[in-house]
Amino acid sequence: MNEGFNQLIEALALSPDNIPLRLHLAELMVKGSLLDEATIQYQEVLNRNYGNERARKGLANIYYKQKKYSAAIMVYEALMNDNMLMGEEMLPLVRCLIKENSHAEAVEVYKKLLKQKPNFKDEEIDKVLRLSNTGNKLRSKDNDDFDEDDEDDFNGQDEFDDFEGFDFFMEKPNLKFEDVGGMDQVKKEIALKIIQPIKNPDLYKAFGKKSGGGILLYGPPGCGKTYLAKATAGEIDAKFINIGLHDILDMWMGNSEKNLHEMFVQARENAPCVLFIDEVDAIGAKRSDMKGSGVRHIINQFLAEMDGVEHNNEGVLVLAATNAPWAVDSAFRRPGRFDRVIFVAPPELDGRAAILAQHLKDKPTETIDIAAIAAITSGFSGADLKAIVELATDYKLEDSLLKGSIVPITTTDLLKAAKQHKATTAEWFETAKNYAVYANKSGLYDDVLNYLSDNSERE
Ligand SMILES: Nc1ncnc2c1ncn2[C@@H]1O[C@H](COP(=O)(O)OP(=O)(O)OP(=O)(O)O)[C@@H](O)[C@H]1O
Ligand SMILES: [Mg+2]
Repeated sequence: MNEGFNQLIEALALSPDNIPLRLHLAELMVKGSLLDEATIQYQEVLNRNYGNERARKGLANIYYKQKKYSAAIMVYEALMNDNMLMGEEMLPLVRCLIKENSHAEAVEVYKKLLKQKPNFKDEEIDKVLRLSNTGNKLRSKDNDDFDEDDEDDFNGQDEFDDFEGFDFFMEKPNLKFEDVGGMDQVKKEIALKIIQPIKNPDLYKAFGKKSGGGILLYGPPGCGKTYLAKATAGEIDAKFINIGLHDILDMWMGNSEKNLHEMFVQARENAPCVLFIDEVDAIGAKRSDMKGSGVRHIINQFLAEMDGVEHNNEGVLVLAATNAPWAVDSAFRRPGRFDRVIFVAPPELDGRAAILAQHLKDKPTETIDIAAIAAITSGFSGADLKAIVELATDYKLEDSLLKGSIVPITTTDLLKAAKQHKATTAEWFETAKNYAVYANKSGLYDDVLNYLSDNSERE
């Protein structure tokens, strides 16, 4: 450390409560890339002046530089809740959320930023988070004083009107199958039906097989349907569009069927592209709201696009997911549409261990007895397991902030967290059981019955 630092440190030894001086020292240390030393100084400030804005911003910035994204997110979000994060200061938070694959949250924060700074533009974030057109829409919708001259890819108001009520995001996930814990059987099936045809189109053609058609994933919440769909796109280096059937139905409400067509156009133009339709059970609920006919119409249009009646859907893969397969319109399951229906069960013992390892990978830990935690978390979904890792992380972040250095997560923390958190899948099986027992047409729910009988034997 150089002379200047030493003088400041000596001065602080004499007056340790001189907050401005300590902040100054910390900031110099950051400039000199002494991040760990600066962290200590910021923590000293926080010990004396809890909630100090400059110290918290400094710390968040260091975590960001050190790629400790979840820690950075925590500090940034706390700052945002205290209204201390303004305009472009939100940008690192958006970047951290993208790094952590939390796109929905990233979009939320980015929207807030755009609301405060209508003319702000970051090409890279625009590209990661969505289509350029949707970006313009966001800006325009939230800001009456939007100045269209600033946007070179924006072609006037008429064009914009077409995008009213049309909300989907295209991203390029960097998630891979290896990031998805367990699920070996499901991965194998997707590899065979979706990935191989894309990788070896000639071979499939030679056997007279067409790529296309869709897979319907169903199962209890939080077991990785969305996650897996995203990883499927990542695995073949494809774009990913995620849209709820609710949104598609709302397009009809907004009287803009063109937009549904536009979504398929975008998917085709950006092939290979995975089009992921979430909550395909929505139609059951919506039908009564809308008295049928109109909904029927938009669904038929959707299915026609999916069938590729007028257009070639080569390289467009459609995946769908639902928690309520019994409410999915049977038209969706005709051959050539979602004719492959796959049950995504809560992870088995090995899967749970893999998911836990996956989520603990980038956290400071002691040697963890993963098998012990996997053993007591039967019935936990992937999301439940992620939640207990987050809970254990929170225990230790608190300790670390108090102590001023990193206190690693232990097996005991995770066991404690597992006891504190209740598995969320039981309720789903209560409902599913009724359908599996009484409405199991053509063996659709055999996998659910198998899962139930396997798991009741074991307990
Ligand atoms: N197999 C897995 N490997 C790693 N993480 C997982 C796995 N399954 C789930 N997760 C974690 O749980 C989170 C929730 O999973 P996801 O959103 O894919 O569930 P889902 O089945 O789509 O739930 P829902 O029915 O509520 O939409 C994921 O973001 C991921 O962090
Ligand atoms: Mg989902």
